[in-house]
Amino acid sequence: MCGIVGFVGKKQAAPILLDGLSKLEYRGYDSAGIAVRNGDEPAKIVKSKGRLKILSEKTDSGNALIGTCGIGHTRWATHGEPSTVNSHPHISGNCMGTDFGEVESEVIGVHNGIIENFKELKGKLLKHGYTFYSQTDTEVVIKLVDYYYKKYTHDPQEAIAKTMVRVRGSYALCLMFKSCPGEIWVARKDSPMIIGISEGETYVASDVPAILNYTRNVYYIGNLEMARLTAGKVSFFNLDGDEIDKKSTEIKWNAESAEKNGYEHFMMKEIHEQPKAVQDTLNSLVKDGKIDLDSIGLSDEEIKSISQICMVACGSAYHTCVVTQYVMESMAKIPVRVEIASEFRYRGPVLDKNGLVIVVSQSGETADTLAALRLAKEKGIKTLAIVNVVGSSIAREADNVFYTLAGPEIAVATTKAYSTQLIAGYLLAVQFAFVRNEIDSEYYAGLINELYTIPQKIEKILEDKERIQWFVAKQANAKDVFFIGRGIDYAVCLEGSLKMKEISYVHSEAYAAGELKHGTISLIEEGTLVIGVLTQSGLYEKTVSNMVECKSRGGYLMGLTSYGHYEIEDTADFTVYIPKTDEHFSASLSVIPLQLMGYYLSVSRGLDVDKPRNLAKSVTVE
Ligand code: G6P
Repeated sequence: MCGIVGFVGKKQAAPILLDGLSKLEYRGYDSAGIAVRNGDEPAKIVKSKGRLKILSEKTDSGNALIGTCGIGHTRWATHGEPSTVNSHPHISGNCMGTDFGEVESEVIGVHNGIIENFKELKGKLLKHGYTFYSQTDTEVVIKLVDYYYKKYTHDPQEAIAKTMVRVRGSYALCLMFKSCPGEIWVARKDSPMIIGISEGETYVASDVPAILNYTRNVYYIGNLEMARLTAGKVSFFNLDGDEIDKKSTEIKWNAESAEKNGYEHFMMKEIHEQPKAVQDTLNSLVKDGKIDLDSIGLSDEEIKSISQICMVACGSAYHTCVVTQYVMESMAKIPVRVEIASEFRYRGPVLDKNGLVIVVSQSGETADTLAALRLAKEKGIKTLAIVNVVGSSIAREADNVFYTLAGPEIAVATTKAYSTQLIAGYLLAVQFAFVRNEIDSEYYAGLINELYTIPQKIEKILEDKERIQWFVAKQANAKDVFFIGRGIDYAVCLEGSLKMKEISYVHSEAYAAGELKHGTISLIEEGTLVIGVLTQSGLYEKTVSNMVECKSRGGYLMGLTSYGHYEIEDTADFTVYIPKTDEHFSASLSVIPLQLMGYYLSVSRGLDVDKPRNLAKSVTVE
């Protein structure tokens, strides 16, 4: 994560850049730099290793750099150690030069993100006579822009578009061209970036707070889009060079508006927050390589004496209970039943007095779940609540609370809270299995290690999200979609189907793959999309057979499976692969592409992703 800022207008740029960077230091602070241009004169660059304070001192709070157009960067190192030479801005020339020295290079730029194929591109540029002074991927991308600029028509827009097609990875790029004084060019893919406008002034930044001192009038630049910024004006372009008409949004002075961090929707922001949410939730209960359930009121003695577990919830929280049921029974060999709260509360459930009732809720306010909790307590059964919102009703009333650390979730369709609820279920299952002697200490340690790999595996899936976007765009007119799977894969299908229905309004069904032929298969018509989830190796062949049955009736198949199962391509028309993990934990990975499918389908249908019709984030009525 890095922070970028740019300014072009009538005021002096450097103090504005430093002020903006100070609001972005949370994104990285191992080095910082700014480049400023005074009219037609070449830019001057100042960079320094360490906190922004050092750069500020070096430039006399920006006063030592004269000019009304500039770009700045605060760095969190990825490629190349934190050092002055590796810090941004970078230039297309072959030597960085000294602080305050005039930069004669054509292209100067700052970058947030990672260019994955930078080595290959570097090789290409070396052949064309470029040399490199830093270890960064950014220097490579700046030189690639320079290469295309000089090779083609000396048109920044065309050079940037060619570069965008050539690079793989993520970027928010902010560039100045020597031949275009008073202009800043930006391009974006997967890294946040917003543009602000006020009278005669234009700003660009990684995040809204960086420019809120100057303007609340903000444009969101979309993925794979470019923009040309001049004083008080911005023009947006797509990859083909066509100008895009955009409307600005007024930032209301409240946290909610400022917290989208450049993402178009809260849902996408929250999808991207899942690695951190998972990591934080793991860290809250794993201490020195062991899971500590004492802190949530479950001593080893109690864990040993619990006769059965009943899990109760609504919506997506209920879906996480279905996953936990599979994992807990398989690992800890303890009977688990799962109930929808609105059913549970009225059907007079029979509960064992040595049992444990676990209620799961993001908001901690869902009326039916709260009622289920109260019913269990009335019956004298021990209760545990898995809740995200601290101090909520369910958290206050349950005997014990396991807080998921997803942070505030704003999009109505849950993503990160769901992911943390899964983690809560896994931690309980692994610890119950260990304490009840169902697994040995070696497997126990291995499972905990595996849990800690989930965040980076989610990141990996998110890196390839454009493939899903591309596939989903073709399904924008779908009428019915079927999700099929067995075991944990079936549980994930429930969530994938709900995500699709609630935000894209496309009818979908989740079916246990083996159950399909008992009626639902009659709904499959020519071209009906059937999504098979196949992460459980023992069930893989069986689900493939069910997919083939759908294909024979005209179904169009998507397969979602782990890397290695490439033979799925013989059956499915489109495939999505996820990293391998212990199969008990596969839901944490397989759900990610399904969340993205729901999101992109909603976007492609032009719907209100974050606030779907008829739904509410927290349902406090029954
Ligand atoms: C609503 C939300 C769902 C959520 C369900 C349960 O229907 O739209 O996303 O899963 O309530 O909410 P809870 O706060 O109890 O997890």
